[in-house]
Amino acid sequence: MTSFIASLLSPILAAPTGTPEPTALPKSPDSPYFWMPTRSSTVADQIDWLFDVLVWLSVLSCIGIMGAMVYFCIKYRAKSRAANERVEITPDHNTTLEITWSFVPLVILIALFVWGFKGYVDLRTVPKDAMQVHVSGQKWKWNFTYSNGWSDDVLHVPVDTPVKILLNSTDVLHSFFVPAFRVKIDAVPGRYTELWFHATETGEFPIECTEYCGTSHSDMLSKVIVHPPGGYEKYLEQAEEKEKTLPPAELGAQLYSKKGCKQCHSIDGSRLIGPTWKGIFGKSEPLADGSTAQVDENYLRESIVDPQVKLVQGYPPSMPTYKGQLKDHQLTALIEYIKTLK
Ligand code: CUA
Repeated sequence: MTSFIASLLSPILAAPTGTPEPTALPKSPDSPYFWMPTRSSTVADQIDWLFDVLVWLSVLSCIGIMGAMVYFCIKYRAKSRAANERVEITPDHNTTLEITWSFVPLVILIALFVWGFKGYVDLRTVPKDAMQVHVSGQKWKWNFTYSNGWSDDVLHVPVDTPVKILLNSTDVLHSFFVPAFRVKIDAVPGRYTELWFHATETGEFPIECTEYCGTSHSDMLSKVIVHPPGGYEKYLEQAEEKEKTLPPAELGAQLYSKKGCKQCHSIDGSRLIGPTWKGIFGKSEPLADGSTAQVDENYLRESIVDPQVKLVQGYPPSMPTYKGQLKDHQLTALIEYIKTLK
């Protein structure tokens, strides 16, 4: 069904030629539900039930009200001028009917409120034993930092474990959403927000930004990888070791996509939000203040750590600082990678 719809939409959705390749979309596992992705967390069932009840109640009320309206329009329409103007004594109210149509919806609404409120309290109450991951939203990527200090652009969590997400934003409002877990919360600059989930299935599930945050908002995608027991610990152990054994240029290539550089800098010469990296090393760049800068290791390092100091002419001052976000060996790796892009 979904693949059929996708094939119908593909001519519309295909990127126009000449624009840079969009970020590969994280894939949702096939879902047995018509509207919704898989229910892969402990709260998903409850949320979907409430949603379904609300949808079907609304559909039924809509049909009932519209049906009654059409029926009355036909039944009481004026058949002639005389019939229309005849004065008739009509009953002014019906107590039983009025009490019924007030009391029944009241009971339904109270039940929906209790159900919804209970769900809300469950969603907002983080279990005490939850494992914490710090998440930071930044135009236009998510960054996940684990308890041992390691950070990654993909969220790794163990299955069957409550996980607390402590969220902040380094620039504007973003919103962190994991559709398969049915959890969502805003990332707000200058304060922490939190949510929690308990994944019930292993696999990979998309993470989206659901608050418009600028040009590449729709590319602000990531994924959560839910590991089987033991897999998460193994991932943390190996991750840092692996990075240190890579050749710098190769690590730089990974950081280019991991740290969000590729949202603004192309490597094929095309113009994005910032200057392309292709052939930039060794060039003389005209700066916004009228001077020129020689692009060498020190210029690149300064531009990553303190991007507003030497702005290239014709580009907006929109790059955030990476001070503290990149370790020394990572800065070197990025510079070595830029050098290879001739
Ligand atoms: Cu970040 Cu939209």
